[in-house]
Amino acid sequence: MTQPSPAAVPTHPAPGERVPLYGPDFAADPHAVYARLRSYGACAPVELAPGVAATLVTNYRAALDVLHDTTTYSKDSRTWLSTAPKDSPVLPMMTWLPNALTNDGEVHARYRGATTDSIRMIEPHELRETVHETADSLIRKFAARGEVDLVGEYCQVLPLLIFNKLFGLPDSQGPRLVAAIARMFDSQGEEAARGIEDLLQYTGELVALKVEKRGNDLTSWMLDHPAGLSPEEVVTQLVTALSAGHEPVKNLMANAMARMLSDERYYRTISSGALTAIDAITDVLWNDPPMANYSIHYPRRDVDLHGTWIPANSPVVISYAAANTSSGPSAPGPRSDAGAHLAFAAGPHACPAQQPAVLIASTAIDRLTSWLCDIRLAVPFDRLTWRPGPFHRALTELPARFTPIAPDQKGSSPWSTSPSSSTPAAETSPERRGGSAA
Ligand code: HEM
Repeated sequence: MTQPSPAAVPTHPAPGERVPLYGPDFAADPHAVYARLRSYGACAPVELAPGVAATLVTNYRAALDVLHDTTTYSKDSRTWLSTAPKDSPVLPMMTWLPNALTNDGEVHARYRGATTDSIRMIEPHELRETVHETADSLIRKFAARGEVDLVGEYCQVLPLLIFNKLFGLPDSQGPRLVAAIARMFDSQGEEAARGIEDLLQYTGELVALKVEKRGNDLTSWMLDHPAGLSPEEVVTQLVTALSAGHEPVKNLMANAMARMLSDERYYRTISSGALTAIDAITDVLWNDPPMANYSIHYPRRDVDLHGTWIPANSPVVISYAAANTSSGPSAPGPRSDAGAHLAFAAGPHACPAQQPAVLIASTAIDRLTSWLCDIRLAVPFDRLTWRPGPFHRALTELPARFTPIAPDQKGSSPWSTSPSSSTPAAETSPERRGGSAA
């Protein structure tokens, strides 16, 4: 993929010219591509996959205008889907379902109400405890080894095991969910289709179980919600929550840890004002959002968006990453301007799970860095590799090294601590050893 140099990019694109948002160049340096796309104005012509044309909104104000304007823009992809290439790899992320994400008006409000109200029932202190338990169970698997791929062995698995618990299933069912998602994402064609079947079977059995016997869990709250969703509709909302929730939580954790484990400022004691996991998370949400480009809208008629004509029913994609950084990258730590990032979108379709998502990511990172207090990247930050694709900002792996800890060592450890303990002894240990990337 050859990108034109900034000077060569025309203000008005030649007819049919589109900048690809797939392939290794975009994955390696998306911000260089966003910088070039900005020279088109508030919106730029892009290709999400071969033959899938879209308009990318890179300007913050224009992004807000689309996200809030439900009269001009629809989230319903069905008209566009009838003209889309049938085997495109982006179709799963652009498909229509009876859910909140791809519907408007009252239909959206009904699904969103059931999802949002159920998510609100999650008790933060119980969720924190669940994250501790789940984190410890994963850390125990690699802590004695001294090295780990944090993407494959921690960030990828942890959110799914937590979803399994929130849905109201025993831990024994967690690996089933992990295997189904891995099959979906790590394979193609028939094998990936089998992963989707596995996921639908998992959620179908889950909902059937809760129809028979309710519990204190997300599935039961959705079934009992006054919106009166049918069991089939609950299956779809759970699959939507999994698809909308798993990948970005994974990416938020991994992208934040990549920064923390390669930056000295995260390795000092509280008294010297060290940056925290929340600072790294805020940094990622502003500068490298886990979902980089999404909130796909379809204009109901031909429209002029900040100087760009967009044909009716064609995809308009919001670049949270480009809009957030239109005035340059922001530094980690608190911002003085109190501005709002768009990593969770805005308007009626803004993410309903922002608080639990940040709680899961920050607690999981704190737990890991508490037990493995000298953990650091095994390769320099700039040698990390990113998965190609237009929507997610996802590391392929995050190799790290640390001093091994063992089940028989003195003091508390992930093996000996009680699951309810929220302050592992290592948290009070002296300064974490400095650890820029080796
Ligand atoms: C760091 C983690 C997360 C990020 C960055 C994130 C980001 C987003 C964004 C940008 C949207 C808007 C998408 C659109 O309009 O097309 C969204 C919507 C949504 N998210 Fe999240 N999300 C995260 C975690 C979660 C989790 C954990 C759940 C479920 C428990 C979840 C459930 C949803 C749902 C159901 C919607 C659709 C809402 C609607 O259309 O009304 N998200 N999320």
